[in-house]
Amino acid sequence: MPKSDKPDVVLLEKTDRIATITVNRPDKMNALNGEVRITLAMALEQLRQDADVRVVILTGAGEKAFIAGADIAEFKGTPAVDQYRVMQTGDIYSAFERFPKPVIAMINGFCLGGGCELAMACDIRIAGDKAKLGQPETNLGIIPGGGGTQRLPRLVGQGHAMRLILTGEIIDAARAEKIGLVDEVVPQAELKARTLELAGKIAEKSPASLQAAKESIRAAWQMPLEAGLRFEKAWFGLLFSTEDMNEGVSAFLEKRKPEFKGR
Ligand code: COA
Repeated sequence: MPKSDKPDVVLLEKTDRIATITVNRPDKMNALNGEVRITLAMALEQLRQDADVRVVILTGAGEKAFIAGADIAEFKGTPAVDQYRVMQTGDIYSAFERFPKPVIAMINGFCLGGGCELAMACDIRIAGDKAKLGQPETNLGIIPGGGGTQRLPRLVGQGHAMRLILTGEIIDAARAEKIGLVDEVVPQAELKARTLELAGKIAEKSPASLQAAKESIRAAWQMPLEAGLRFEKAWFGLLFSTEDMNEGVSAFLEKRKPEFKGR
């Protein structure tokens, strides 16, 4: 079949154990439409199975936007029952959160609505200094539907979450860092290099320990302390069964750098 001339809405690139997923609708500020959501889910599935990939970076194409939210054009005229069905199936936000490898959101511009919710479902958020973030759904007569009312207060506290969602105001990267919505802000020109540097540092670790660390930290959001501590201990014990643990400990004792194989 001849390949369509339409550009791919999601681009996937891999180098040195790091995969970069780029939402590619720059003329629409990388808004998340149905096709993007489905393609993102397929990309994640592919990367889950790819043992060479240890860290994933999520970003948006172009200079202006990370992701400016759900595609508002798809809302117009959508019957409630159809929208309800969309919300119940294929939750891309939880798919990123549950993905077994670390995911870094590289926030290169407008990060609004569903874009901010997707960034919050990632594990680390690095923003360029020109980035703008917010949950402007109340301007449209709706509320965040990709986990914003749940993940935002867990990240920044109830007061900041209330203010952001109730006012719909858009904040700059410096303010987002101050309230804990992003973890680091760097000059826009250095964003990619800094993100790759961080991803590279993570990619050197044992994949099993990365998964264990991610799932255990995530458990702190979900579980009472006692259950979370047990969960952490179970992972800790399990890691003693890996070749990577043996390699890490041996390398330390032999005063050399470990070479983790992912086994
Ligand atoms: N859904 C669909 N299209 C969107 C979009 C979204 N969330 N965000 C931006 N776009 C489109 C615009 O409609 C415009 O398309 P057009 O050129 O065909 O008219 C294009 O992207 C460029 O956006 P524009 O508004 O012209 O750029 P701007 O620099 O003036 O403003 C924003 C940028 C991000 C502030 C503005 O586009 C905006 O407020 N977007 C909506 C954000 C939002 O409410 N997100 C939550 C959705 S639930």
